[in-house]
Amino acid sequence: MILPIIAYGNPVLRKIADDIPKDYPNLKELVANMFETMYNAKGVGLAGPQVGLSLRIFVADTIQILQDIPEDNDFAGEEGIKKAFINAEIIEESGEEWAYDEGCLSIPNINESVTREEKVRIQYYDEDFNFYDEVYTGFSARVIQHEYDHIEGILFTDHISPLKQRMMKRKLEKISRGDVEVSYRMKFPIVKKKGMRRK
Ligand code: NI
Repeated sequence: MILPIIAYGNPVLRKIADDIPKDYPNLKELVANMFETMYNAKGVGLAGPQVGLSLRIFVADTIQILQDIPEDNDFAGEEGIKKAFINAEIIEESGEEWAYDEGCLSIPNINESVTREEKVRIQYYDEDFNFYDEVYTGFSARVIQHEYDHIEGILFTDHISPLKQRMMKRKLEKISRGDVEVSYRMKFPIVKKKGMRRK
């Protein structure tokens, strides 16, 4: 089932998400729905708060996008991942900082360069509650860091300079009002009143 994606401005995107209990009902169904919602929106990652759930869950699939990149790309040779990350905790970020243009399904049509460390060590559970302690680099690390931010209430726009944030402010306000062209279903925090004047 495709879920509506929560747009910028909804307070759920700003909360620190809660752990998922082991007896959480229909966890596998939630994971399947999150993958379906992500693919439908042509994303490579999606986190619980983005579907209105303040829960520590995110899904990522970087396999296809990495297969499609040209051989001279920095990420050439990277296999990619397709995984659900439950109750994830980043243990350490290390390595050189690098910049990359990020976007977000909750903030459509905005891309900005974000600087992050290259390596991430993360502990998490899969949807069967098997525990993992892994290190990622490259494109997959980038996606994990972005999605992990979501379960901490952080958005990629928080990482850019105050000047760029100021320049972006009106665009973000328009998104929260639903005044944005988007190809997938979204839920906007500010509902337009009937008869409200549109510019
Ligand atoms: Ni995002």
